[in-house]
Amino acid sequence: MKVLVTGGAGFIGSDFVRLAARKGWKVTVIDKLTYAGDLERLKPIEDRLSFYNTDILDKEEMKKIFKKHKPEAVLHFAAETNIDKSVIEPSVFMETNIIGTIYLLELAKEFEVKKFINITSYEEYGEIIEGEREEDCPLNPRSPYAVSKTSADMLGQVYWRSLKLPLITLRLCSIYGPWQNPERLIPMTVLKALRNEPIPIYGTGDVTREWLYLCDCIRAIFAALEEGKPGEVYNVGSGERYQVVEIVREILKLLDKPQSLIKFVSDRPGHEKRIAICSEKIKNKLKWIPHTKFESGLKMTVEWNLNNRTWLFKKLFYYEDLWNKLYRED
Ligand SMILES: NC(=O)c1ccc[n+]([C@@H]2O[C@H](COP(=O)([O-])OP(=O)(O)OC[C@H]3O[C@@H](n4cnc5c(N)ncnc54)[C@H](O)[C@@H]3O)[C@@H](O)[C@H]2O)c1
Repeated sequence: MKVLVTGGAGFIGSDFVRLAARKGWKVTVIDKLTYAGDLERLKPIEDRLSFYNTDILDKEEMKKIFKKHKPEAVLHFAAETNIDKSVIEPSVFMETNIIGTIYLLELAKEFEVKKFINITSYEEYGEIIEGEREEDCPLNPRSPYAVSKTSADMLGQVYWRSLKLPLITLRLCSIYGPWQNPERLIPMTVLKALRNEPIPIYGTGDVTREWLYLCDCIRAIFAALEEGKPGEVYNVGSGERYQVVEIVREILKLLDKPQSLIKFVSDRPGHEKRIAICSEKIKNKLKWIPHTKFESGLKMTVEWNLNNRTWLFKKLFYYEDLWNKLYRED
């Protein structure tokens, strides 16, 4: 199998790449290495892949890579992914997530790729106060990030419907696990707690999200790649929903740190109180089920961060700057 992976040095993409390379697949990775990308994630398999430090917006370079490697499948992870940041700096989200996706879809069509996995997000459904959303429910994105992912999702579906590009859409819930950047809740809480710093929580922390462990997410992506039906959209969720404040409290307990480190800050505009999805379709059609319960996944993730704290601290300068912009008391 010859696969081309965009965003393969990021949190989720790199886990896919590590597994694909270990299966003996020919893997080509394209990553611009923004603040979110890191080649350390690919170190164990670096000699088993072709890596390009390239922007998906660079049409010419991208075409050369497609020409050279002739991928059978494309897995599209590359994106600007920080939802909170998208509220204050939206344009780069539109460029990478929408325009970048169009360029990639065009190349996939031109080079007759046999499968295109478009990785999108449950943020597209917007706030869901009660119940859970199925794949055909209306989309109601509330952040610039969610708007950009909804556009990429819709564009992908157009390329299937009108141009017969064999494309599958995966709408992922909140993924957590090893190697996640400390701009996300769990590693940020560990990092700040280790430094005995206040841990910012928006509003009262009663925002509810659905949490899926990285390994389970990657198994879902492989299932879609190997068994998924072109044109289909699959939600990928765990059904395990927790409030932000519950998770932070649990991490502090695991680290034996005081709960008083929690600091409630002004909420961000448009913050969805709750998002929840129904994942029965992928379970029934692709025989996928999550294996890791949140309780054990959280323990493993906290432990991984403790054992890899040098990596966790590495980009602190970047994140400190970001946190100063995002979390305010007024
Ligand atoms: N992490 C989650 O909880 C979650 C949930 C739902 C959906 N998703 C989606 O999954 C995908 C991967 O998410 P992640 O958490 O691994 O993100 P990440 O931020 O860790 O990684 C994104 C990667 O894309 C690269 N990238 C960014 N702009 C690029 C460009 N213009 N050209 C080439 N590469 C570029 C970055 O360098 C980085 O390596 C994204 O599409 C995201 O929207 C993630």
